[in-house]
Amino acid sequence: MHVVTGGGTGIGRAIALSLSQDGQRVLIAGRRAAPLEAVVEQGAGRIEAVACDLSVPAGARILAARLSGVVEGLVHCAGGNPAIGRPEPRTLEDEAALAADTLAGNLVSTALTVTAVEDRLSNDASIVLFGSIAAEHGVGYYGPAKAAVASYAVGLAARLGPRGVRVNCVSPGYIAETEFFAGLMTPERAAELRAQTAIDRTGVPADAVGLTRFLLSSHSRHLTGQNLHLNGGAFTTR
Ligand SMILES: NC(=O)c1ccc[n+]([C@@H]2O[C@H](COP(=O)([O-])OP(=O)(O)OC[C@H]3O[C@@H](n4cnc5c(N)ncnc54)[C@H](OP(=O)(O)O)[C@@H]3O)[C@@H](O)[C@H]2O)c1
Repeated sequence: MHVVTGGGTGIGRAIALSLSQDGQRVLIAGRRAAPLEAVVEQGAGRIEAVACDLSVPAGARILAARLSGVVEGLVHCAGGNPAIGRPEPRTLEDEAALAADTLAGNLVSTALTVTAVEDRLSNDASIVLFGSIAAEHGVGYYGPAKAAVASYAVGLAARLGPRGVRVNCVSPGYIAETEFFAGLMTPERAAELRAQTAIDRTGVPADAVGLTRFLLSSHSRHLTGQNLHLNGGAFTTR
């Protein structure tokens, strides 16, 4: 089976549906039941859902309890930027809460999800974590939290490598048609982000499906411990 967290919406939803269309059994996870159930309905009987908050140990235990059989692929899409739509911090307490929530939703949820699933992984399993271009730009606490996810992937790849398990991080630029911006992305800002790409193109969840399916497959069998940028050339590495 495959596990796709954040599978109720956006990138995770697209990945889960793609896997199910190819006959794979998929367990999707997210906090809200309604979007998860909508994906289950489109999954031709091959998608199951579990509602849980993966940023806390109790939620990760709920996920672990729903695993059955061997996990061939884990895609951790759950995450986001809690600063979006939240008032600017005005006190030290507000600042601490925003920093803690951001790290919990991205780094801690990654660590707890991996730990919950680890014992079930097949010896040739592939793990795909999600970072962000925001790590390169130092965006609030979200950028640092995603930089931490990319770094976590490096250590995890070294730790699980001897078992044959590969770990990579996908770091997207702006991807439209997700719930990430909570409806607050303006046409002007979206156009700016599009203009930052080399190909004058806005990314969509299907773009992340292609890269993630490659990373889950044996076509990428010599690729591990990497941070792969997916942004139409808006940020480049060499
Ligand atoms: N869209 C972009 O432009 C963009 C750019 C760079 C990186 N990313 C990253 O790509 C990943 C996928 O995001 P997306 O763009 O597809 O946005 P999205 O539509 O908001 O998807 C995020 C999913 O994660 C789930 N989630 C969030 N926190 C969770 C938690 N604590 N426990 C369980 N599930 C949780 C959400 O569902 P619930 O709210 O129901 O829990 C939601 O289904 C995220 O890690 C995001 O940071 C996105």
